[in-house]
Amino acid sequence: MTKLFDYLKLRIESEGSITLADYMAESLGHSEFGYYNSTVPLGKSGDFITSPEVSQMFGELIGLWSAVCWQQLGTPNKFNFIELGPGRGTLLMDAIRAAKVAPGYLDSIELHLVETSPILAKLQKESLSTLKNSCLWYKKFEQVPDGPFFLIGNEFIDTLPIRQYIGAGGEWYEQLVGLNKFSTALCRITSPTPSDGEFIVPLGLSGWNDGIIWEICHEAQKIISSISSALLERGGVAIFIDYGYVKQTGGDTFQAVRNHEYSDPLEAPGLTDLTAHVDFEAIKQVAEKKGVRVSGPVTQGAFLRRIGIEKRAEKLMNVATPRQKRDIETSVKRLIDDNEMGRLFKVMALSYPETFQLEGFCNAECD
Ligand SMILES: C[S@@+](CC[C@H](N)C(=O)[O-])C[C@H]1O[C@@H](n2cnc3c(N)ncnc32)[C@H](O)[C@@H]1O
Repeated sequence: MTKLFDYLKLRIESEGSITLADYMAESLGHSEFGYYNSTVPLGKSGDFITSPEVSQMFGELIGLWSAVCWQQLGTPNKFNFIELGPGRGTLLMDAIRAAKVAPGYLDSIELHLVETSPILAKLQKESLSTLKNSCLWYKKFEQVPDGPFFLIGNEFIDTLPIRQYIGAGGEWYEQLVGLNKFSTALCRITSPTPSDGEFIVPLGLSGWNDGIIWEICHEAQKIISSISSALLERGGVAIFIDYGYVKQTGGDTFQAVRNHEYSDPLEAPGLTDLTAHVDFEAIKQVAEKKGVRVSGPVTQGAFLRRIGIEKRAEKLMNVATPRQKRDIETSVKRLIDDNEMGRLFKVMALSYPETFQLEGFCNAECD
């Protein structure tokens, strides 16, 4: 068993079973044994690969897209480019390289990185060391200074801790993490008593069958609320790209990935990446209630096609070797194909003021 298991065992023995959110937060963020504090998770030698790591085109297109947002805000002299959970800094480097094409844009950018992992923050500092722009790091979005901004969170919200409830006999019971009867492994435990009003029936869910599982991510709602308030005060655009659903219909999406394979989320705490699908409807409701405009969600495939990934690939292929051409084709397919990342991943943007015309989305319900 892992060191984090020993720590969690002591915690559960003294406090009783813990919520899934507490388990996720400890597993990913424990200061010593948490996954993001003890490993470099991304890349071929890590546990998973994200879109910016699949291809430079992803970050480049986001960079160009952000330049259009800056233009639509009236080309402010100082513009905060914020990334939540920047991983290895790959997206930022690609975005900044592409942003050079918009005259004046690069000079106006200040980079703000919100990162909790000291290991990844160190890697980001190394990657970005060649840039002339000022780069600052924070642990929380709320610490980022004032000013109009562009914000990107790619595969960020899926890392935020969720709580899970199971419906039975007209009541909701929280799913917890406890110890098996020999205290040798973690196991899922359903709370013996129904949740007393802290979890209410999800909006729009009129009836449900016993056994339905409902997930809720309070952290996501909190950060979307803060970002929406900042947009209302400062102006700008926030874009989120993640795997998730347009409308939650119930189900267990809590998952673990280790070494590019799915694994049991309770098996090796601290050594596996834990995520849950993003409930885009829930975050949309929070943002709309605050008064910012919400575009999407649309699928990643449709979004990247609309903002020109195929044209960009064609341009790169014109100067590529046969092997590079094959790599470009494979990575475009990976990013936009329905059977790869194209459909499961969704894109949603929050913007203020109302005047933004955001490319890649469409007015009517579409994907
Ligand atoms: C799945 S990785 C995605 C990395 C990068 N965005 C990419 O697409 O390659 C999640 C990132 O979020 C960071 N992270 C996780 N929880 C966080 C939190 N609560 N606040 C800030 N960063 C967090 C991780 O350290 C990591 O950089």
